Amino acid sequence: MKTLIEPFRIKSVEPLRLTTRDEREALIRAADYNVFLLRARDVIIDLLTDSGTGAMSAAQWAGIMRGDESYAGSDSFYRFEESVRDIFGFRNVIPTHQGRAAERILFSTLCGPGDVVPNNTHFDTTRANIEHTGAEALDLPCPESSDLAAQGPFKGNIDLEALEATIRERGAEHVPLVVVTITNNSGGGQPVSMANLRGASEICHEHGIPLYIDACRFAENAYFIRKREEGYAHRSYLEIAREMFSLADGCTMSAKKDGLANIGGFLATNDDELAREERDLLILTEGFPTYGGLAGRDLEAIAIGLREVLEPDYLEYRIGSTGYLGRHIAEAGVPIVQPPGGHAIYIDAAAFCPHIAPLEFPGIALTVALYRAAGIRSVEIGSVMFGHRDPDTGEPQPARQELVRLAIPRRVYTQSHIDYVVEAILDVWERREELPGYRITDAPEVLRHFSARFAPLA
Ligand code: F0G
Repeated sequence: MKTLIEPFRIKSVEPLRLTTRDEREALIRAADYNVFLLRARDVIIDLLTDSGTGAMSAAQWAGIMRGDESYAGSDSFYRFEESVRDIFGFRNVIPTHQGRAAERILFSTLCGPGDVVPNNTHFDTTRANIEHTGAEALDLPCPESSDLAAQGPFKGNIDLEALEATIRERGAEHVPLVVVTITNNSGGGQPVSMANLRGASEICHEHGIPLYIDACRFAENAYFIRKREEGYAHRSYLEIAREMFSLADGCTMSAKKDGLANIGGFLATNDDELAREERDLLILTEGFPTYGGLAGRDLEAIAIGLREVLEPDYLEYRIGSTGYLGRHIAEAGVPIVQPPGGHAIYIDAAAFCPHIAPLEFPGIALTVALYRAAGIRSVEIGSVMFGHRDPDTGEPQPARQELVRLAIPRRVYTQSHIDYVVEAILDVWERREELPGYRITDAPEVLRHFSARFAPLA
């Protein structure tokens, strides 16, 4: 069969409100052309993020009813711990309310001024939590990743030569840990190979530095290893996941992605002494170590979700539908980060709208056009999100890239929804020369993409 069907049927539906183009025109104007300021009910297909937006299975909902809400020693915690230990292999499992809480605890325990933490590419919250301790967050993406349009099996890899050089230059005592993010979200959702993880592990351990994995999309990464790396075609996703984590000393996880849950995360490590310190910090802001800021029912949902996410039919559908979207728009000429990633398609907005200068925000132009055309919400990852001021002149500087991310929630949209998205993008592509640039009318100094207000240029 040629058609890749969704490996589930639908038991409970959430109606979509189908707005008209005129309604959307008024709504986006009222939101000052920032899709973060729209109400979700005014969005038809919401591709803002794949985080916490997935649909749970019947088994997970059954788990919700089984949630044990005991403050200490809840059964749900032990089921959660067993799932995490079985897949990730780490002895100490510390639940947190989401990924960034795990990051805050980890980095505030290990890092301080004068330290540097390398990563293939830090996600924004990872970077912010490292910088908050006074340490430096250093991105070391592999050289292939800088050519957005180039194909490559593992463009998410960390640059091993640069990693080795950084450790030698800075001194191992100033590198409290190294992180590898799988898949590399900020780098286009591209995977990291087992060989690259092994290389990073060897370098770290030679220098006595712990290696951590930012595991948000670990199952998607395992899928790519099985399909693209020699020697893994006959290994199960569970085996591949176990091998990936066996190379590391710990991990942080946002269960809002490959935990198939709407909230939750964890921090895991084999270092018992460190785990003790981390649990002490956990109690300060998250909660007792057997719930860590989550309800017992959330722990149940994650325990089940972590197993479902490794099911072959699910992963075929998941990566298949992201690839389907990417292929169909790329075939029509739309410039995207190649090859399609696991959780999202990234459109190169600078190449899509070459007539709009970076500081006139081609990414905003595209997010507004997609909303107007079809009620699709995407997100700019460009000069609004990562633009900065020149430290000497104070002049605004563009970001390295102007991307628009279409992140696909898990098990939420069907192929006809994706076909609708393809049609909308192609419609905007046909009229791309008409898209205006934008100027900022009001914005805070930090994290401005969330609340900035814009106006179209004449
Ligand atoms: N690490 C990566 C690679 C992420 O993509 C995210 C979240 C986090 C850590 C933080 O996890 O949100 O549970 O605190 N990414 C979301 C996104 C928000 O839209 O890509 P969190």
